[in-house]
Parts: sequence; structure tokens; C-alpha cells
Amino acid sequence: MSTTNQAGRLAAVKPQAAFKQVEIGRIRNVGSSVATISINKSVIRNNQLQLAQIGTILKIVTSKSIVVAMVGSLKIGSEDEEGMSDGCLAQLNIMGEITTNETTRETKFFRGVRSFPVLGEAVYNMSPAELTLIFNREGEACIEVGRLQQDNSIIAKVRVDDLLSKHFAIIGSTGSGKSCTVALVLQAILNENPMGHVVLFDPHNEYSRSFGNRAEAIDQDSLDLPLWIFDFVETCELLCSEIEDQAREETEILHDVLLKAKRLYDRSVQNGEISSQVKLDDVEAELHRSTHITLDSPVPYRIRDVAKLIDHDMGKLENSSNLAPYKRLKRRIASLIADPRYQFVFKNQASPRPIEEIVGRIFRLPVNGKPISCLDFSGIPSEALNIVVSVVSRLAFELATWSERKLPILLVCEEAHRYIPRDKSLGFNSTRKIISRIAKEGRKYGVSLAIVSQRPSELEPSTLSQCSTIFSMRLSNELDQNFVRAAVPDGAAELLSFLPSLGTAETMVFGESVNLPMRVILNNLPAEYRPHSSSAKFTDLWKRDVATPQLMEKVFERWRARSLNPGGQSAPSVPVTPTVQDTRAALRNRVARAPAAPPHGSAMRSGSEQPSELALQVRQRLQAKAAAAAQERPQAASAVKSMLNSAFHKNI
Ligand SMILES: Nc1ncnc2c1ncn2[C@@H]1O[C@H](COP(=O)(O)OP(=O)(O)OP(=O)(O)O)[C@@H](O)[C@H]1O
Ligand SMILES: [Mg+2]
Repeated sequence: MSTTNQAGRLAAVKPQAAFKQVEIGRIRNVGSSVATISINKSVIRNNQLQLAQIGTILKIVTSKSIVVAMVGSLKIGSEDEEGMSDGCLAQLNIMGEITTNETTRETKFFRGVRSFPVLGEAVYNMSPAELTLIFNREGEACIEVGRLQQDNSIIAKVRVDDLLSKHFAIIGSTGSGKSCTVALVLQAILNENPMGHVVLFDPHNEYSRSFGNRAEAIDQDSLDLPLWIFDFVETCELLCSEIEDQAREETEILHDVLLKAKRLYDRSVQNGEISSQVKLDDVEAELHRSTHITLDSPVPYRIRDVAKLIDHDMGKLENSSNLAPYKRLKRRIASLIADPRYQFVFKNQASPRPIEEIVGRIFRLPVNGKPISCLDFSGIPSEALNIVVSVVSRLAFELATWSERKLPILLVCEEAHRYIPRDKSLGFNSTRKIISRIAKEGRKYGVSLAIVSQRPSELEPSTLSQCSTIFSMRLSNELDQNFVRAAVPDGAAELLSFLPSLGTAETMVFGESVNLPMRVILNNLPAEYRPHSSSAKFTDLWKRDVATPQLMEKVFERWRARSLNPGGQSAPSVPVTPTVQDTRAALRNRVARAPAAPPHGSAMRSGSEQPSELALQVRQRLQAKAAAAAQERPQAASAVKSMLNSAFHKNI
């Protein structure tokens, strides 16, 4: 079929002057979604095979339309009886068609085909004008992410509303460019939508410089996620034992105690008195009356009231053999309070900050010029990660629900396989539950997910399958490819075969926010905005001795404090060489901030309860004093010894 009689019908698609149309081959085989073509010998002879490389979009001009197809695979044709190879074969995935409306004369690209190519029809390369028609949709809010690999004059655009409203995923092996793509995509979205509400879960503190002053950085020290904002299940997950039978007993106790603690606080605030002046009996009497406060209401309560109420309930027990769960709860609460890594849960006990402030900061309400908050989880213990992600995600869901979709929120889950694992035995139940719920129902409420992972096979499967746009970067593991294949929409899975060969910063984009799957060379992200995840420079660092005493002092200080930022100031984006004074100041700070010692005999002693360096020095001085005094006056020596013991127990 000649292309000339189509020229009038498809007049709007004019090839540009520099473009040279080449007949690539002829249809040999055609099915409902794939066609096989034999590539013309002239193409092979003229070294033009790159016009038909994998991922390239070609056209077949039929009597009614231009059928658009993508090269999925290439192979050498079968040999004849003399052993001569029959050229080259390409398998095409039929994607859609360009047609001209007879009445309006408007030429447009549509997914799916009504007019299939027939055997023997010619296949051509696409002109830039045709590619533009396919990939650019006028009048829709789009962001530019890069250029088409096939033709770098064509800008690769992604439709923002489709991207956000139905979740998206960025998948690829380590170092393929996922985090840079996250930064690139979010920057582009926020350039156009400066009043957005984005929360980025950042487990490695990679993004601290990626959004300049448009990001609110929240780290372990500045995070305020009080226990009272947790719902009952989340509270139990933090406070109760992991042993099922024990957890059941503890949950029952907490059920009663938390409700009382909430009402106690509520009454104390209503009366303008302090909580201890409100009678516990009055609260108990009220328990059965209906009030607006339920177990899950985000109403403040004080942890010291919880401890008091547990004591109170313990006192009422007739049988002392039932004390164990009460004691376990008290021990667990005490050890969590004493653990500096959990300060984000127990800070501001004396005067809880209002929910508006807590939620407002995380979800940027009001935006105040910072539409994105980066939650740096690097200092948060991995056992607390579940709680933080599930509480923040649930808050997003509640906010969107109670605002009746007026506050759409995007949650970006970096390293999602860490806290949304497929393997249930790894825990993270609350997180898995709320993220799956958002994946399934979030669209209706305006909560969107961006799932970023290098191990799709380890990810909770329903989450990935709910993502309707997938940026698939280089992915070498076959098992991972199979999971992406299952999640990729509309039969484009064939195109995944070349994922292992994609370059860094190169991606295939599939799904609802693009007209066709496209192979894209992503825009270059300026060095100053790149997430700092660069690999260690072995050959550079192994040529000189970098383990100076100052560096090692800083390393162990951070290790002991379980924080990259033991002094409490914002984390430096570039590691600085610490001075001894810096380290001393950090030590003093830490000592000043040190929580009260856990009760004597507490079962759980965290690493941070070990004596600090300053404590060891004071102990050494006291020991020297005790030794000197012992020689002079034995009585004074025993006084110093008791001081020493008390200093040890308080861990100074
Ligand atoms: N769009 C881009 N612009 C500039 N450089 C890029 C881009 N994409 C990737 N790179 C380069 O590739 C490196 C690795 O990228 P990135 O950190 O995004 O990989 P990753 O897939 O997130 O790796 P990991 O799984 O280990 O977190 C970057 O440090 C950067 O040098
Ligand atoms: Mg990364």
C-alpha cells in the first residue's frame, strides 16, 4: 500500500524537512497485539538498523489510519536449505493509531486499533511531527522529564493529574537513577504546583539538598509524633510485647487505661486544673457515659497519667499473680521514655502541641513556601520505622478524608520494600495495612503514593499493582522483572525484556500518564540537587589514611548517640572534620538532654544507656578521689563510694 494516498487524509502530520522517511520492512505475520516484520535488506546494507532498535516506535500506513507499533524484540531470520540466513526479523507490539476525524479534520493519536495492518504492508520510521502528536497532548497539565531515546528532539512529557491521582512507582536496580528521578519528577511537579502537599519518607537522608529551601526537613530530633496521636492499634504495636499471649493481656489493660488517661486530660483542660487534681473516680464513673472521646480520638493524654493509672489498676487486683502484664507495660514504657531514639514520641509531655501544629508541619498546612516535607528516618531505630510510617500515612488518609478531598497529599515511599515488605514475618503490619488501603482507596480521597524500590519482588504485591504509572529503570534481576511485568498495564509487558540494558538515568515509562510506553533519557539533574547517595570512593580513600583520631572520635560519638547529629543541630550535608571542642560540646549537649534513668532493674537497656564518655571521665575522677580518701579517712571514703554508685546508676 502506497503512503501517497494517505497524505491528504493525514495532512496534519507533515514530515519535517530534515526528516528522511525510510521503509524499514514488511509485515510477515500479524496478531491482535503483535506483528512480525522482515527488515529490508537495504536497511541492513545501509547500516540503518538503529532505526529499528528495541523500544523504537514505527508506523504502518493502512487505508484508514497510521498504526503505531513499538519494536519489542529482534532476531535473525530462519535459514534456508542452503544455510543462508533470511535477514532480520523484528517483533512489533501494536500500540495504537493516528486517525483523522472526517468531519473536524482533526488528527489525533488513540490507544488501541480499529484497523489492523495486513500482510505485506510496509513499515516506516516515525517523523518528529508524528512522535509529537503521539506524546504531547495539548491542554493537559504535564511535566517534562526528559527526551525520547528514539528522537531527542521530542520532549518526554507526563500528565500530572494521571500520575498523582492513581499512584506511581519508580523501580530499578541500585544506582540506576531512581532517587534522581524522584527529585526530578517532584521538582517539576512543584515548579508548576507550588502549593502542593508532599511528604517524602527518606530512610537514608538522601534528599536534604534536593529541593533547596522548598523543603521542610524533619529529622529524628525535630520530629514530634506524640503517642496520643497514634490510634489504638499503633499504640499497642509500640507498647505491647511481641509474644501474642502477652500482647493480648497488655492490650486489655491499655484499652482501659488509655481511655481514662484521655478523659483525665480532657477534664483537666476543661476545668483549667492540672490533671492530678481531677479525681480518677469521677473519670471512672464517666467511662460508661458516652462522650466524644474514643480510644482512637487524637486527644492528648500524659504518659505519666498512663503510668499512674496502671499503678492504680494494679492496686485493685486481688490476685498478685496477675501483676505480670502490668509490670511489663510499665517497664516497656519506662525504657522507651529513657531511649533518646524515641524522644519524638514522648517530647512536649508537659504542654502537648495542638494537632493542627503537628499535622500542619508534616503535611505543609499552610504551605509557607515549603510544599514538601522530607522525613529523615536515618536516625530512627528500624523497629520504630513501622510506627512512624504507619502513623504518618494514616494521618494523611484521615486528613484527606476529613477535608473531603480538598487537601490532596502525595506520600513518597523511598526504599519502600524496607517498610512495606511482602514477607509478613518481617512485621510492619500497621504500615502494610495502611499503605495497601491507600493504594486501593486513596484515589477517592486524594491520597497518592509514589513507591520507590530496587526490589519489587520483596514489595507487598497489591501496592505495586495499584500503581498505574511505572517508571522502570535498569532492572537486571529476573524475579524483579517478573513482578514489574505483572504490574505493567495494557500488555506493554513485552517491552520489559530490554530493561537490563537501560543506561543510568534512562527509563521506560508505562501507564496512564503517558499516551504510549516511552523510552526516555531523563533530564540531567544538576549536581547540587542530586540525592547524596553516591558510592564510596574506594580507590581514592584507600590511598591515604583518613582514620584520624578526630574522625574516629566523631564516628564513635555518632554511633553511641545513634544519631548522625548528636549535637541536635541540623545535619551537615557534607561531612565536616570535627574538632575536639565540637565533640565535647556535643557531649555536653547530650548530657543536658539525657532523659531520666530507667527504673532500676529495667529489662530493656538500650545501647544509649551505656555510660557516656563524660560520665566515664567523672567516674574516673570520683574513683581517684575515693582511693585518695580511703587512705586518709575511711569514713569519707565510704561517702564518696556511695556518690560513685549513685552517679553510675543515674548514668550521669
Ligand atoms: N537524571 C540524572 N541526572 C544526573 N545524574 C543522574 C541522573 N540519574 C542518575 N544519575 C547519576 O547516577 C547516580 C545514581 O543515581 P541514584 O542515586 O538516583 O540511583 P538509585 O537508583 O536511587 O540507587 P539506590 O538504589 O542505590 O538508591 C547519581 O549519583 C548520579 O550521578
Ligand atoms: Mg536511591
